[in-house]
Amino acid sequence: MSDKTMTLIDNRTGEKYEYPILEGTRGPAAVDMRSFYKDSGMFSYDPGFTSTASCKSEITFINGEKGELRYRGLPIEELATGHSYLEVCHLLLEGELPTEEQLQNLDLELRHRAFLPEGLVRLSQTIPDDAHPMSVMSAGVTALSAFYYEHLKLETPEDYREMAHRIIAKMPTLAAFAYRHSIGATYIYPDIDRSFTENFLYMLRAYPGGKMHRDPDGHREIKPIEVEALDTIFTLHADHEQNASTTVVRSVASTGAHPYVAISSGISALWGRAHGGANESVIEQLRMIGSVENVDKYIARAKDPNDPFRLMGFGHRVYKNFDPRARILKKLQDQLRDELNLDTELMRIAQRIEEIALSDEYFIQRKLYPNIDFYSGIILTALGLPRSMFTPIFVIGRTVGWIAQWIEFKKDKESKIARPRQLYVGK
Ligand code: CMC
Repeated sequence: MSDKTMTLIDNRTGEKYEYPILEGTRGPAAVDMRSFYKDSGMFSYDPGFTSTASCKSEITFINGEKGELRYRGLPIEELATGHSYLEVCHLLLEGELPTEEQLQNLDLELRHRAFLPEGLVRLSQTIPDDAHPMSVMSAGVTALSAFYYEHLKLETPEDYREMAHRIIAKMPTLAAFAYRHSIGATYIYPDIDRSFTENFLYMLRAYPGGKMHRDPDGHREIKPIEVEALDTIFTLHADHEQNASTTVVRSVASTGAHPYVAISSGISALWGRAHGGANESVIEQLRMIGSVENVDKYIARAKDPNDPFRLMGFGHRVYKNFDPRARILKKLQDQLRDELNLDTELMRIAQRIEEIALSDEYFIQRKLYPNIDFYSGIILTALGLPRSMFTPIFVIGRTVGWIAQWIEFKKDKESKIARPRQLYVGK
């Protein structure tokens, strides 16, 4: 055993247990406790995995103290401002930014793979039309596994690539169909002449026959600034190491289930308010607060230990200084406010909450800062996107991360079935 070890002493018996310390390329080291149960007959107790690394990974790095996020070593600030979402997809899947030719190939491939099997379209039409788009997406992606049973032949890098590209390409279409279904509107099929992000907006907004939506200002084409903003939102959501939904994806992967079923499980996990569902809840909450004058009352509720009310869009398990994604989105929000001439009551309420929370002892002590969901909800509202689509938009962005993590899990020789133990306290 190397000299980098940690010794645990059982103070009841004086027994000593020595474990190797594993060092990564960045971030805290980890104690390799894999033989702990065999050695000691005890388990480690860590609900919520606050101190447990469940895998080694080369994909995403977070330094929560410094507010740092990197995909494949590259800082999020550089990726969000200097690169498109499709470049980020290539980066996450292949480990490097694409060449011009690779980017064109990926773009073309995703455009061609954006169509859903007609059987799946018919199937989704059988879901009640008041269903939330997230349930249609979760069910739709599970159903997709029946149409593409390719996990049986995932052998070559090309097989993996095809499986990954297909699910990434179809997710915006499924999301747009899910929304149109929920409002009883005819589906708009993908337009192969539009880019990934623009196509999604088109499928959401177009009238039957593909005509673009008209609003009181007249003809409403999709504005480049809207596409850019949404593309940035996709990039910021693309991966976030071992968060709850990714942990679910890896756990399902560990059982040998179909990759799309694993992704569907990730979608279900993301839906919760403590995770991706927070972006929808932020707007619900801002609407409930209603006006800047009411903010103090709700801040007091958030601080009251006897009140379950929490400020949605605040706090993070890992970020204890600031969420770098939130910083980027705040800038984007300010830019949109200027360029689209927006100054809504929701934005004013949000700004007031932010000001109070950032100077209030309760939030400072607990290191609670606005997270990505705080601003994404506000920006998506400003872009006129329906609230029920906020979490599906998170899904579209995150799919590449889930699938990259799924592939990494499959290729890791140390991967095992996820099977935590428990401290039994029952009869
Ligand atoms: N409002 C008021 N108090 C809060 C909040 C909040 N949003 N978040 C945490 N706290 C308090 C909490 O009550 C506790 O106080 P005390 O120590 O007095 O008991 C302390 O801060 C620590 O909270 P925790 O629940 O132990 O922290 P956690 O790391 O387990 O939870 C969290 C992290 C994100 C689930 C939580 O902060 C939260 O529920 N936030 C609101 C929901 C939200 O915005 N979720 C999006 C997360 S970012 C994107 C994503 O993952 O999708």
